[in-house]
Amino acid sequence: MKEIHLTVPASSQRTCSVVVGDGALEELPHITGELEADLLVILYDASLEPIAEKVQALLPEAASIPIPSGESSKSFEQVERIVEELVLLHASTHSVLINVGGGMVTDLGGFTSSVFARGIRCIHVPTNLLGMADAAIGGKTYVNVGKVKNMVGTLWYPSAVLADTSFLQELPRHQIEEGLVEILKVASLTDAEFFGWVEEHVEQCLAGDRELLEVCVQNAAHAKVDVLERGAKDGQTAFLLNFGHTVGHAIEALSHFSLSHAEAVGIGMLIEMRIAGSEAYDRIETLLTQLSMPIDLPVGMQARDIWEVILSDKNVRSDGDVRIAVPPSIGTSSMLPVTKAALLAACR
Ligand SMILES: NC(=O)c1ccc[n+]([C@@H]2O[C@H](COP(=O)([O-])OP(=O)(O)OC[C@H]3O[C@@H](n4cnc5c(N)ncnc54)[C@H](O)[C@@H]3O)[C@@H](O)[C@H]2O)c1
Repeated sequence: MKEIHLTVPASSQRTCSVVVGDGALEELPHITGELEADLLVILYDASLEPIAEKVQALLPEAASIPIPSGESSKSFEQVERIVEELVLLHASTHSVLINVGGGMVTDLGGFTSSVFARGIRCIHVPTNLLGMADAAIGGKTYVNVGKVKNMVGTLWYPSAVLADTSFLQELPRHQIEEGLVEILKVASLTDAEFFGWVEEHVEQCLAGDRELLEVCVQNAAHAKVDVLERGAKDGQTAFLLNFGHTVGHAIEALSHFSLSHAEAVGIGMLIEMRIAGSEAYDRIETLLTQLSMPIDLPVGMQARDIWEVILSDKNVRSDGDVRIAVPPSIGTSSMLPVTKAALLAACR
């Protein structure tokens, strides 16, 4: 088991503990005890009933609210429903939400806790690889608005993140593949040794090797925390986590979400590296292929449409200054401006 401390920006007094390992969930009663909540509410992905039962067994006094599985639940409609249920439960500013699920639940539960009663505390219990390595870490919360992804959100740090890697046993292979895309992203930008480790152990991770997956999540969580803490100091470094995402989010939206987030980001990484002339290209392309990710744009998707969607990205200034983050080589990072002509030339 490993405990990583993330200093919460703008509050040097507060840290968020990220506990990663087989059995991390066992820490829950201890953590909730320290929070002295008047009410604990477990918010969980309805398709993960067996995991929710384990959480409930540790906190028999907690109330629970199931959330329909799937990205469409990351909506204001669900926020309103949860708030109504919290009111019926007499939740107060002293209550704590425990968000159990993948990135959908940690985004939705994190957002709801940030706005309910001007903000209440929460604990994230991510249950899949993407959640443990990425979505539950960093305090970003989001809901989608109509078809526009992540357009509304807050920065709201959970009191703790408990990433119990025993949950990964039941994870379908494609979800391990998708989690590994975000992991290779952060490794490629920050840590050549970890990237080499992923290359070496990718097949065993895909086969569900418990010990290796635990090491993988620990390293990825550590790398993300490191980037966030550097970003909090210099106001820039956190943008590195957008590698693949500037172009990838546009591809995801233009595919009408028929491509998964990881698939679109993988294609986005390759296009962004072609723009930058990155030496990391071949190694990342090889890994994406091993992860069964598409490496080309969907047939018929036009580069000029991608550019138009990029211009509406929340990170792009209204004057059209588009920037991307890429690894010029494995383990290094840079940010650079992109012109429409460069994007058109790099899309194929
Ligand atoms: N806030 C952030 O920093 C951040 C970062 C990355 C992604 N995200 C968000 O995360 C979401 C994507 O995350 P996701 O892929 O986890 O989505 P998700 O929560 O919808 O989970 C995907 C699927 O995995 C299933 N699942 C979860 N745990 C499981 C387990 N242990 N065993 C079997 N099945 C399990 C879920 O039921 C669901 O069907 C997107 O909304 C994305 O925007 C947020």
